[in-house]
Amino acid sequence: MASHLQIDPLPEAPAGEGPRSTGVSYQQLLDADTRPVPEVLRLESARELPVVRVPLERYTSQEFHDLEVEKIWKRCWQFACREEEIPEPGDHTLYEIAEMRVLIVRGEDRKVRAFPNTCLHRGRALKDHAGRSDSIRCPFHAWTWNLDGSLKEVPCRWDFPHVDRDDYHLPEYRTGTWGGFVFINMDPNTESFESYIGDLPNHFERWPLEKRYTEAHVAHLMRCNWKVAQEAFMEAYHVVATHPQILAGIGDANSQYDAWDNFSRAITANMTPSPHIDFEPDEQEMLQSILTTSLDSAPMIRVPEGMTARQLMAQMARMQLQATVPSATDLTDAEMNDSFYYTLFPNFHPWGAYNRIVYRFRPYQNDPHRSIMEVIYLSPYRGSKRPAPAPVHWLDWDEPWTNAPELGPLCKIFAQDTFNLPKVQLGLKSARHTHATFANYQETKLRHFHALLDKYIAA
Ligand SMILES: [Fe+2]
Repeated sequence: MASHLQIDPLPEAPAGEGPRSTGVSYQQLLDADTRPVPEVLRLESARELPVVRVPLERYTSQEFHDLEVEKIWKRCWQFACREEEIPEPGDHTLYEIAEMRVLIVRGEDRKVRAFPNTCLHRGRALKDHAGRSDSIRCPFHAWTWNLDGSLKEVPCRWDFPHVDRDDYHLPEYRTGTWGGFVFINMDPNTESFESYIGDLPNHFERWPLEKRYTEAHVAHLMRCNWKVAQEAFMEAYHVVATHPQILAGIGDANSQYDAWDNFSRAITANMTPSPHIDFEPDEQEMLQSILTTSLDSAPMIRVPEGMTARQLMAQMARMQLQATVPSATDLTDAEMNDSFYYTLFPNFHPWGAYNRIVYRFRPYQNDPHRSIMEVIYLSPYRGSKRPAPAPVHWLDWDEPWTNAPELGPLCKIFAQDTFNLPKVQLGLKSARHTHATFANYQETKLRHFHALLDKYIAA
């Protein structure tokens, strides 16, 4: 297969144009915050990514999908489940990637272990569903393993003199945990989980995701490649065309993009106008443009004299959050207003601050034209008893997001975001050109992703 990455030298910006949008930069916006701004928001990464155009076949070809299975899914650390899904010994759940299933079990020692979901006798799937049991017993012939993967029992043991107990330990995948998420890696020889996630935990120090519970978990089947879906949630460049109703109150083209090692982030400010609009909205107009989208019914809230919409929204959000997060009084206007959307390669997208969103994108079985998009809301809770996690709510291929009312008013935004995606996949099938072209700055996260994809595919 031909090289996947096309590297061009970066030409000079067109006459009269700088490398960034006109308007207030994110760092300038932070200067006006009413609270001390944490170091992590002040970080700006170096960007030495090559300008990339990537071959369209990586979104459409079976061959490229098969490469991803071998080089990405079998080799990279990936988010498999939340710890809260398996709180007690014997609790188990299943993680599915492409057509592989992984069984994740909490042992008597409370340790989380991951095994291929396959009986070592004749290969039946060991478990069909999540649940709780004191051992792992194959329903076909009742071969049984302990929760730590050691072989417990083989019916008619006399008939298997050639089966040594130690040789029939379930093969174990590596696991790692961070922020209440369980990650797995099928490759015993790659880098450690701690090295793989790098500085990501430092970025989330003020927003501990382990102190949350899964308030909603929606999985939507999508008629597009998993990367087509994922990439729609890695930039704000699409806002002007896809969400024009919020332009008065979103600094879309003034977003900041950073990339470090295996993760990247974008920051898009709210309650600041888009440089795309040709009028200067007042504070009330900015507030209204966001409220009508983010709330079910826009209440009559007026921005008081001498206050900005940004300050008002931050104050209201802090008061609401204080019920579950007492330290909310110290959170900046930025943390209360803005979108901090991180991506850990290959497919894990936790949002920063107290925005509840986590996305995950996966291929649907081995079909390069279909995928699964998941939206998880991780919310803080009152008291010490974590509420039970919401079960996965599946939405069918063409089902409207509004069928998942647990996602609240953001359903409208998800519907706008995903409207284009099957049409991208259709367009790709008719293409006569060969490459997708990314923006130099605003598609930093996509370029970073594809640079990592290339690195792993080439390894
Ligand atoms: Fe969007």
